Amino acid sequence: MSPLSAPQIRRRKRRNGAEPLVMITAYDEPGARYADAAGVDILLVGDSVSNVVLGHTDTLHVTIEDMVHHTKAVAAAAPNAHLVADLPWLSYHLSPREAVINAAQLVRAGAQSVKLEGGRNRLEVIRAILDAEIPVMGHVGLTPQSMLAMGGFKVQAKTTDAATRLIDDVLALEAEGVFSLVVEGVPAEVGTRITEALQIPVIGIGAGPNTDGQVLVFHDLLGLSNRTPPKFVRQYAQIGQAITDAVAAYAADVRSGSFPAESETYPTPPDLFQ
Ligand code: KIV
Repeated sequence: MSPLSAPQIRRRKRRNGAEPLVMITAYDEPGARYADAAGVDILLVGDSVSNVVLGHTDTLHVTIEDMVHHTKAVAAAAPNAHLVADLPWLSYHLSPREAVINAAQLVRAGAQSVKLEGGRNRLEVIRAILDAEIPVMGHVGLTPQSMLAMGGFKVQAKTTDAATRLIDDVLALEAEGVFSLVVEGVPAEVGTRITEALQIPVIGIGAGPNTDGQVLVFHDLLGLSNRTPPKFVRQYAQIGQAITDAVAAYAADVRSGSFPAESETYPTPPDLFQ
C-alpha cells in the first residue's frame, strides 16, 4: 500500500462519505513502525518531540536540525502512512525564503508535506512554500508555538468574536491552498463550524467529534508521557508502566542470579584454554 498523497488527503471529507482520517505523532523508527502497522493514515513528526521525547516543557526548544533528525528516523520505517513534518518555531517566521529552505530540508529528510502554525499572518510564507511545490498542512486554534503570546496552553475561540476571527483565518488558509488543517483546543461547536465551512479536511485534537479526522500524541495515547494528559486524550494503554514492570523484572533476575540462564549463554568450546 502506498502512502496517501496530499491531493488524496485533500479529498477526504466526511460529509462526502469519506472515512475519518487517523493521524498520530511519531518521532523515531520503532514508534513509526508500530503506529504504521496499525494502519494509520498520517504520521506527524510533531514538534511535540520537544516535550514528550526531549523533556522540555514546551515546543519552543526544537530547531529545524532536530526536526530533520527525527523526520529521517521516522522515514527509515518506510511507512505506508503519509508523512508530514512540523516546521518548528522560528523556522518560518523570519522570511518566506528561509521557510522554503527549511521546508525543503524536511522533504529531503523524508516528509511528504509540512505543517505550520498560524492564520492569516502566515499567508505569504504558505504561498512561498507552495510555490516550491511542497504541500502545506495548516494548524490553528491552540497553537503551542504561541504559548508565550497566549499566556499558556489555553482553549481558544471561546467567544463569538474570537471564533469568528478563527473561521475567517481558516477560510483564508484554505483559499491560499493548504491541503488540510489541524484544529487544536477549541470548543466542539467551533470545530464543527470550521469543518462545515471548509472543503479541505479538518483534523481535530481537542476540537470535538465532528471534524474529518483526529490526531493524538503517541506518548499520550500509550501512557508514556509524564504529563497529566489533557482532557481530550483517550489513553489506550499504559506502556510506561509495562516498561517499568519489565525492567524491574530484569533487575530482580540479575540480582537473584537467575539471568542469564544457560539457554541465554554462549557455550564454552571444550578445548578453550587447554
Ligand atoms: O506537534 C504535535 O504533536 C502537533 C499535534 C498536537 C497536532 O502539532
